[in-house]
Amino acid sequence: ARLVVLVSGSGTNLQALLDAASDQAYGAAVVAVGADRTGIEGLARAERAGVPTFVERVTDHESRAAWDEALASRIAGFRPDLVVSAGFMKILGPRVLKDHTIVNTHPALLPSFPGAHAVRDALAYGVKITGCTVHLVDAGVDTGPVIAQSAVEVLPSDDEDSLHERIKTVERDLLVETVGRMAREGFTVTGREVRLA
Ligand code: GRF
Repeated sequence: ARLVVLVSGSGTNLQALLDAASDQAYGAAVVAVGADRTGIEGLARAERAGVPTFVERVTDHESRAAWDEALASRIAGFRPDLVVSAGFMKILGPRVLKDHTIVNTHPALLPSFPGAHAVRDALAYGVKITGCTVHLVDAGVDTGPVIAQSAVEVLPSDDEDSLHERIKTVERDLLVETVGRMAREGFTVTGREVRLA
């Protein structure tokens, strides 16, 4: 299967997918990496792996809708079977959502703590268990059907960075495993249920 991965930051989830895809048996290849900004480690990781990259900045377009159209078209150019949003920090627009199937990874147990500060919010709330969620992207913010989740314990000594790093070690394994199964076995979506074949 052909994967296009969208990133906005360090790209450790992307790196896990690149590493997994180097084994033919994984059943998926990262055919391109897209970003909403330049100068991020995620793009450097793609370049080091010899994977084509593209950047579509919202500010380069006269409207959010124009950006949405442009992004949808850039992604389509790589003919993906699945798009993976791995730390992509923009809300995807209706055209991208219409044209592509997108899987997102989120560093909390949705529906708890959606949005851009999930780890900080979980710490502030004082939960003892948090985790990560792989879900299909719909028009909302982190509201799409849940595909897989993993739990991560919050330690008394945790701050946002230490907790996020611990979540990310679990998150990248969950993402690799889930995306691999979706790529190899296929999946069906019935309402809010995503069934891996
Ligand atoms: C991940 O925890 C992702 O869930 C969140 O931001 C982090 C991105 O990390 N949205 P990386 O860019 O994959 O290292």
